[in-house]
Parts: sequence; structure tokens; C-alpha cells
Amino acid sequence: METIIKEIQRTNIDEDVIGMAGVILKEGGLVAFPTETVYGLGAHALKEEAAKKTYAAKGRPSDNPLIVHIAEYRALEEIAVNIPDKTALLANHFWPGPLTMIFEKSALVPYGTTGGLDTVAVRMPADEVARAIILAGGGYVSAPSANTSGRPSPTTAMHVKEDLDGKIDMIIDGGSVEIGVESTILDMTVTPPMILRPGAITKEMLEEVIGEVTEDQAIVSDKSKEAPKAPGMKYRHYAPKAKLMIIEGDTKEAVKAIRQVAFEQERLGYKVGIIATDETAEKYKRGIVKNIGTRENEYTIAQNLYRVLREFDEEDVDYIYSEAFAMDGIGSAVMNRLKKAAGHHMLRAEEITRLQKYR
Ligand code: TXA
Ligand code: MG
Repeated sequence: METIIKEIQRTNIDEDVIGMAGVILKEGGLVAFPTETVYGLGAHALKEEAAKKTYAAKGRPSDNPLIVHIAEYRALEEIAVNIPDKTALLANHFWPGPLTMIFEKSALVPYGTTGGLDTVAVRMPADEVARAIILAGGGYVSAPSANTSGRPSPTTAMHVKEDLDGKIDMIIDGGSVEIGVESTILDMTVTPPMILRPGAITKEMLEEVIGEVTEDQAIVSDKSKEAPKAPGMKYRHYAPKAKLMIIEGDTKEAVKAIRQVAFEQERLGYKVGIIATDETAEKYKRGIVKNIGTRENEYTIAQNLYRVLREFDEEDVDYIYSEAFAMDGIGSAVMNRLKKAAGHHMLRAEEITRLQKYR
């Protein structure tokens, strides 16, 4: 299949391009498009066949449910039932935006879209291009991240092309995304509501609006043996090809430890990548050093995370060592993705520097 790629200007959205995407979606085809979080792979959410195509293109297990994207609040009432009272408050504050909420599904939503579940995940994205495409496509667009299953999520149209060229009908290129990590997922079918995936909308932000919110323990604790409640969170996704290890601890100590391991691995002939920040990048003398953003503003780190992981793939590094980041604000979403990419391989900086002394 030939994939049509169209650039779109945010300041002057080309209605013809949007119309074309809408026709493809209504006919059951696949269109990748930008959202404020990551690029999504859109399909008609109320058509079983379209969901099947989505799973095939991504190489994604079909028990992993899709998020239905809407552009108007009343669309929610068509696809969800028993919508709790707090929903309207949350929607008022955070929709359109990077919040996905889970409800009991209505009969309109096929099990193909929900991975066989009786619940449906719903999000109203803020991105203007995304909203135009959803409306043109009929109002209900399922959209997982537009990457091959197992690869880092795409934050540019080029990333989508790398993974899905020839496998989908169309890619809408709207430039780089704003946030860079996927939406917060909040399960509204339990009381109090529970966060299944951290994102730009934090626990504190949600609690300010509706009071108590809990977090799925499987995503909070590194030691939890329980499977995460969002089926997709159990897969080792966002994974780069190289072995990634997070070095925890005070930044100065972490830099020292990473310098040591990089030196040793290079001496053994391995290609080493280092994930550094504005504050530390020039302290590394070896390895391929990538500056992921500034510790002063963790949003910059979220924006660059997946791009940096993809770049290391292209450069065929064997090992990647990353500094750890603060867990507040969007930092908890960043660390959640980084830990998953690392398959939870983490070491404390002092353990490395201490070992070194006894050589
Ligand atoms: O920011 C985002 O949410 C992006 C953009 C494109 O909107 N989409 C996204 O979709 O991240 P995806 O498919 O890559 O991740 C969806 C996650 C998966 O972990 C899936 O298991 C979970 O949402 N999910 C979907 N429906 C669910 C449900 N009914 N119950 C529990 N988890 C659900
Ligand atoms: Mg994904």
C-alpha cells in the first residue's frame, strides 16, 4: 500500500487534506495524525474491521484496548454508560487535553476496539488538527500511539513514517508534538478513580478538582508483582534496541558513575550512549552524549525522551546509561516511561562508584 503523506499548517489548516483523511477513516482506513501528546494511528472506533487493521499495522496484541478520541462532550454519552458525576467536572477542567478516562462501554462500541473489555477509554485531544480529523472522520476515532508495537512512541511524522510507511493509508504531518508522553489514564469505573498511567495531568491536579484519586500500585512500586490494570502497561514497550540502565542518586554522583561505566564499556569495545541534561552534558567526555532537556523544566525532558531513544536505535549503540529525573509534576510520567524502556534496570550511583574503589 502506498502511504499518502501530507503536511499541514497549524495556522492555516487545509480543509481538503482534512476532508481526505475523513473519507479514509469513514471507509475504514488508517490515518496517523498529531495530537498534543504523541502521534496517533486513527481508525473508525465504531467499526470492528478498522480495529483489526490497527492491530495488524502496529503488530500489537489484540487484547490491548484502544483509546476512543472524540471532539465533543456529547459524543461521550453515546459510547459510555453509567458516567459518574465527577466526569463533567474533570472534563470541564482537562478536556480538551491529555486526559483519558475509562467508563463502562455502550453497545455502540465493538469489542474489537476495547480488546474484549466491557469498558472503553475516551479522550478529547486539544490539538486542533486532531480535532478536525476526528470530526471529519465521523466523531469517534480510535488512536493508539502510531508506532510499531514495542518501539518508542512517535513525536514527529518522521517517526511514524519510519514504523508504518506502506502499512497505513495516510500520515498527516503537523510537526513536533507539544507534550511528548502519552495521556494520563484515569479509571472512572472505580471509587475513588484510579490512575492507570501517569501523564501530563498529575494526581495532584486531578485531586484539586475531584478530591481523592488513587494510583495503580503496579505502576507506582518497582517491586509490585501485580499486573498493571491497563493491559498495555504490562508490555515492555517504549523499548530501545540497546540495553538501557538508569543510574539513580544525586546528580553529581550519577555523573561520576556514568563516566566510569561508559569508560569501561568502551574499553571492552561497546558503543555507549548517555542520556544527559543541560546541567550535565558537558561533563561527559566519552560515549554518544544526548542532551535530553533541562532539569529546571521537566517538560523539556518529556518532549525529547522518545526522540532520543529512537536516535540511539539509529546509531546502533549497545548500552545506554541515563541519569534519573525528579518524580514531581510531569517527571513521574517521564520516569515511568524511562523505567519501562529500561525493563526496570536501575542501579544506584554509589554502588558503582563504591565498587570501583576496590579494583
Ligand atoms: O496520549 C495518548 O493517550 C495517545 C494519543 C495518540 O492520544 N494514545 C495512546 O494509546 O497512548 P495507546 O494505545 O498507545 O495506549 C493506550 C493505553 C494502553 O495501555 C491500554 O491498555 C490502555 O490505554 N487502555 C485502553 N482502554 C482501556 C480500558 N478499557 N481499560 C484499561 N486500560 C485501557
Ligand atoms: Mg502506545
